[in-house]
Amino acid sequence: MSPRQHKYLLDESEMPTQWYNIIPDLAAPPPPPLHPATHQPVGPDDLAPLFPMDLILQEVSAESYIQIPDEVQDVYRLWRPTPLYRAHRLEQALGTPARIYYKYEGVSPAGSHKPNTAVPQAYYNAKAGVRKLTTETGAGQWGTALAFACALFGVECEVWQVGASYDAKPYRRTLIETFGGTVHRSPSQLTSAGRAFPADHIGSLGIAISEAVEMAAADPGTGYALGSVLNHVLLHQTIIGQEALLQLAKAGESGADLVVGCTGGGSNLGGLAFPFIREKLAGRQAPVIRAVEPASCPSLTRGEYRYDFGDTAGFTPLMKMHTLGHDFVPDPIHAGGLRYHGMAPLISHIYELGLLEAVAIEQTECFAAALTFARTEGIVPAPEPTHALAETIREATACRDSGEEKVILTALCGHGLLDLAAYQEFLSGEMVDSGLSDSDLAAALAAVPVLSG
Ligand SMILES: Cc1ncc(COP(=O)(O)O)c(C=O)c1O
Repeated sequence: MSPRQHKYLLDESEMPTQWYNIIPDLAAPPPPPLHPATHQPVGPDDLAPLFPMDLILQEVSAESYIQIPDEVQDVYRLWRPTPLYRAHRLEQALGTPARIYYKYEGVSPAGSHKPNTAVPQAYYNAKAGVRKLTTETGAGQWGTALAFACALFGVECEVWQVGASYDAKPYRRTLIETFGGTVHRSPSQLTSAGRAFPADHIGSLGIAISEAVEMAAADPGTGYALGSVLNHVLLHQTIIGQEALLQLAKAGESGADLVVGCTGGGSNLGGLAFPFIREKLAGRQAPVIRAVEPASCPSLTRGEYRYDFGDTAGFTPLMKMHTLGHDFVPDPIHAGGLRYHGMAPLISHIYELGLLEAVAIEQTECFAAALTFARTEGIVPAPEPTHALAETIREATACRDSGEEKVILTALCGHGLLDLAAYQEFLSGEMVDSGLSDSDLAAALAAVPVLSG
């Protein structure tokens, strides 16, 4: 057998040195966030109590490229560039003529793509003199990433972990504490937003965000960091897609036919896909971009595109996004990072522009896909990217039937070595699909504010 190449690697010197901002390339910019009281577009001063000015300027930037500070590049090089793999054995197992590639972000210190934004966020906050950052975490991945990044830049880190994830993933908490962070189960008794719920409530990302924002807003030396949703977060993640473009070229591909990623708030999909959308808009490639969300939290496929709060208590600006309603509490499915009621306004806008498709998949199909992947490629995926893998397998199976040799690129945005309780539940046949009824959806959407004018 002639040797076949599995990994497409870049040297540290080939790591991109700029983030790509997709907004100037779009036909229209996304609708602005609105002040919760006045319903007028928020300005930099409204955001200044929570975020440093460098990040606020990135949030509204009209520049196509933003230089990655040397200090951030130096940290990135601890694990970047990340590998691009060709999934030869998965292809063989599926009997597909499709060529499947996966961009693996699980090699980072936190085990996911989240440090790509945690590091610059900690850096810019430290530079602005912020002493402490608060945040929420759903799967525990983002809290881990921020605790790691804060440790490097001498910033304290306080994390509100969604109750269901706090109970199910004690080792995530240990990891956050190992990096020097403090963890609270959300809802907690420390905030008015948390005290509105019984202490044993399973929690949601919306509640945990309210708690972290409330604490940050009360202390001038404390800032707030969000692990997804905002423009600057998606911007930082574009290093993934820029690397993948270089790596696909090294693999001899002229581009991808399908780019697929899971979506919680939209940052790993946006990070991988935006540079490919740039190529598509320039007429150099024609990839289909597909978001995959859990059937029990289907903001893009079943939510409404309207202004809503980013958190449960209504502390954040109103954002135009696909939402299930800000007080929607998703079932405690295992992909905790996908249990968010809304979607990045930028992803929502790009979906409305017709540059992105979306599907929703039940969790048992996702875990079945994860086993197929683990048993062929050897990596145990985090529960979130199992959604992207399930869709990849659907598409590769369709290629087997049609004979099409599509190039499929999938975002393997994290490993699942701290999610083995979920695997155990699936292996023992106890995992169930929860779906979402039309009546529960209608009840949640009834809470979305109605804006006049
Ligand atoms: C491994 C992993 N993947 C995906 C997500 C979902 O977030 P996003 O859609 O912003 O990538 C999370 C969020 O916590 C995560 O931890």
